Amino acid sequence: MKQPISDLTAAYRYLYPRPTVLVSSGTIKEPNALTIAWSCPLSVDPPLIGISIAKKRFSHELINRYKDYVINIPNITQVEGSHYVGSVSGRMEPQKLKQAGFTVEASNKVNAPRIKECLINLECELQRIIVTGDHDLFIGEVVDVVIDLSITDEWAIDLKKFQPIYWRKSKSMEETYSLNLRIK
Ligand SMILES: Cc1cc2nc3c(=O)[nH]c(=O)nc-3n(C[C@H](O)[C@H](O)[C@H](O)COP(=O)(O)O)c2cc1C
Repeated sequence: MKQPISDLTAAYRYLYPRPTVLVSSGTIKEPNALTIAWSCPLSVDPPLIGISIAKKRFSHELINRYKDYVINIPNITQVEGSHYVGSVSGRMEPQKLKQAGFTVEASNKVNAPRIKECLINLECELQRIIVTGDHDLFIGEVVDVVIDLSITDEWAIDLKKFQPIYWRKSKSMEETYSLNLRIK
């Protein structure tokens, strides 16, 4: 039986599970990243992708300062490192990428570095920030794409070769990433 729920701030949870990406920012000498489940393609031409970042994140400050970032797509074998990147702020732990088992490399078109271990990197220039609520929508134009073509078919990621991380916030890690466990 369907029924209304009273807490409307919980509405977003019914859009879960969501694919998870790592957004790197800053510079090659002082890199940072956060884990993002709230991302959305916004336009094909120009190629625009939106990511929603809470105002209090260090990444919010860094992308505002440097005006670019890279969307790096991790796969399920990188779930623990990706979870760590999404649990600790670079403000408190400047070495968090290293501690999560990731290294950075120079990007082709933007100052923000790419995450080397991720097989897909979308380099983005910040176009604008739309102020929303406790999160803000960062709209980036993709200016370069670097990808390991062995994990794609003619359309997209080949799920037999590369399994993205699907996130559904929950009490245990197992439940949080349960969709991945089910499609394994
Ligand atoms: C799977 C996952 C998804 C997340 N999605 C988002 C998101 O879409 N937007 C956001 O602001 N924070 C999100 N977070 C939280 C940030 O990644 C986390 O607060 C991070 O430590 C911020 O790092 P920073 O302060 O160095 O930028 C997510 C965390 C996890 C584990």
